[in-house]
Amino acid sequence: MRHSFSKRAKTYAEFSSVQKRIVERLLAPLACGCYGRVLDLGCGSGTVLKALPALGVEVDTFVGLDISAQMLSLHPTASPSAKSVRLECVDFENTEFVPSDLAISASSLQWAQNLAQVCGHLAQSCKRVALAIHTSASLHELHTFLNTHSPLREAKEVCGILEQSFKGFKQTMWVETFKQEFNDRESFLQQLKRGGLLGGGALPFGKAKSLKFNVPYHSLSYEAIFFIGELA
Ligand SMILES: C[S@@+](CC[C@H](N)C(=O)[O-])C[C@H]1O[C@@H](n2cnc3c(N)ncnc32)[C@H](O)[C@@H]1O
Repeated sequence: MRHSFSKRAKTYAEFSSVQKRIVERLLAPLACGCYGRVLDLGCGSGTVLKALPALGVEVDTFVGLDISAQMLSLHPTASPSAKSVRLECVDFENTEFVPSDLAISASSLQWAQNLAQVCGHLAQSCKRVALAIHTSASLHELHTFLNTHSPLREAKEVCGILEQSFKGFKQTMWVETFKQEFNDRESFLQQLKRGGLLGGGALPFGKAKSLKFNVPYHSLSYEAIFFIGELA
């Protein structure tokens, strides 16, 4: 999956309208706040940083972490909302988090192999977190058609991990489904290809052919768990 994002970095922003909607929903409860140090895990090409000015959020130091150098090369290095912006090309599963006032992660933590461990590290180092994590119900139309299983965790498992990891935090959690509609097969296929959603595109020939010519193309759904945690 990480290669999928690197390969599609240039077109990701253009094909990430759902990720933008997710960031808007995730950050709405933080509007008009002032934060010292902010971490953005899996910051990609900067959807989170770009959303801050409209929300009236002010930050001293914004630190964006991403494993893909290609995605980071498209991330802004300054913002009217942040006094300084730093970008680090690291794996968020193998990094020690510097103590921060707020950790944000939008549409990235579903790829963590050990989600409980990453959340445990966040709970120890951050006063507040805002996380949006996709579930196995995302792209269910595609998985049903291809008769494949989502590599992502079910909503129940994600909620359980968050509840356990942030035990000492005041927790607000909710689930939302986002739908994208398409008028033709070509735009549907472009969305899958350019949005970096196919996980590297390693489909067997028969399934790839069937996807290209027979997939029902009218809509794609995405389900995400939203979690706001504040140290009590
Ligand atoms: C769907 S994009 C989301 C980007 C951005 N947060 C947004 O909302 O548009 C997921 C990002 O997570 C990054 N990512 C995935 N696994 C990672 C890991 N283990 N460590 C750091 N970044 C990772 C990918 O490179 C990609 O940029």
